[in-house]
Amino acid sequence: MSGYILSIDQGTTSSRAIIFDGGMKMAGSAQAEITQYYPQPGWVEHDAAEIWQSVADTARKAIADAGLKPTDISAVGITNQRETAVVWDRRSGTPLHRAIVWQDRRTAEMCESLKADGYEKLFSAKTGLLLDPYFSGTKLRWLLDNVDGLREKAEAGEVCFGTIDSWLIYKLTGGRVHATDATNASRTLLYNIDDGAWDEELLGILGIPTAMLPEVRECADDFGRVDKALFGVELPILGVAGDQQAAAVGNACFEPGMMKSTYGTGCFALLNTGRDRVSSTNRMLTTIACRLDGETTYALEGSIFIAGAAVQWLRDGLGIIEQASEAGVLAAKADPGQQVYIVPAFTGLGAPYWDPAARGAIFGLTRNSGPAEFARAVLESVAYQTLDLLVAMKKDWGVNQLETVLRVDGGMAASDWTMQCLADMTGNPVDRSAIRETTALGAAWLAGSKAGIWPGRREFAQAWACDRRFSPSIEEGERQAKIIGWKNAVSRMISDTA
Ligand code: G3P
Repeated sequence: MSGYILSIDQGTTSSRAIIFDGGMKMAGSAQAEITQYYPQPGWVEHDAAEIWQSVADTARKAIADAGLKPTDISAVGITNQRETAVVWDRRSGTPLHRAIVWQDRRTAEMCESLKADGYEKLFSAKTGLLLDPYFSGTKLRWLLDNVDGLREKAEAGEVCFGTIDSWLIYKLTGGRVHATDATNASRTLLYNIDDGAWDEELLGILGIPTAMLPEVRECADDFGRVDKALFGVELPILGVAGDQQAAAVGNACFEPGMMKSTYGTGCFALLNTGRDRVSSTNRMLTTIACRLDGETTYALEGSIFIAGAAVQWLRDGLGIIEQASEAGVLAAKADPGQQVYIVPAFTGLGAPYWDPAARGAIFGLTRNSGPAEFARAVLESVAYQTLDLLVAMKKDWGVNQLETVLRVDGGMAASDWTMQCLADMTGNPVDRSAIRETTALGAAWLAGSKAGIWPGRREFAQAWACDRRFSPSIEEGERQAKIIGWKNAVSRMISDTA
């Protein structure tokens, strides 16, 4: 076998396909943006058919970009935006509604009423998650309640539900396989992470028919073969993981205590807690980091909904930069005497606040505040929010935060200014991965190692390379003063219901 792996990375804003060669280096890639639909304030939808088309197109283009033919590819890995809920007709494969995206807040009231009925403890105990609209379960319930005839069809076994990985597996295999992996299942609010099974009690509470759920497999497993009609050759799909878990794999965070943070649309920090599930008392999530060779590895996760999306807002909303990469350069020019804070709660606040009703705000403006201060405030907000996560994780995990190195990747990690700010504000060393496509690499490794053509865990971890370490260098008094300013700003944005 050639060792070439096709890694599909279906994200919130775009679909990407990346070819890695047998030496785990990028050999080709392609990317396509996907349309965002905002039918109402706080609602976010995707067209599942467009997602599928973009994946099929980018896969073909990436293979061509690498100068290869489909027959040169040995295996396929899939990684995806998580929690986004899709329902489709089992027989025809037609989506029955637009996909409800993880950022969508339409089920905030449903979550509140479940909380008022005293269910949060039960859901947390079984799934490791909280009752927040972020997760798929209440989105699926909304679909069952609002799409004509869906519930009846679902009860008759005629409907498939899945997160984006399931949808892509179904389409890639020509409708033969309806499956997901344990990491994606662990984000649905329906999956018992201790038992490793869909939870009948929770399904009953949410009124979700079992017949519509995918089969849950390991992360490196047999997910069927790509239909010959697509690329002219059958290809085995051997690796699947949600994008944040794939990034943890790509960052080789295999040992307990290792931690990564990925800066894409949002920011997601995962701390590997090993074979033992750690239940958070600080509003972190407990999630499945991976399931390999019959063993489940758990993680604590902190999820921030807006990170790179705030830089997009500087570019598209305010028009003060032309490219995302200019944000750090502009921030470096900010007046050190001004303290402007932006709380980018555009779609509510995630961990550790979990407030779907919170909205963004700016504090500390003076007549001299301008684009540079806005840029700095946006980039600093990402560092402060990461600090909030690390402080909570440290309490849950009980280790000295300063001893924990944070491995980082994702678009924003390219900014030296932002990464130095992150090290300064968190007081943690920050190691930036030498490979930019860490998420896709993680999915490729799952597939490549399952195929037996890529190295095993230990060798892969040894090959992980750091592009640059950022060490904290700010004076402690200044750091504390800035953090107090952030806490003050964010506390003013928390709604009464949170
Ligand atoms: O949980 C949501 C996350 O998976 C989305 O990731 O990279 O599409 O922002 P991304």
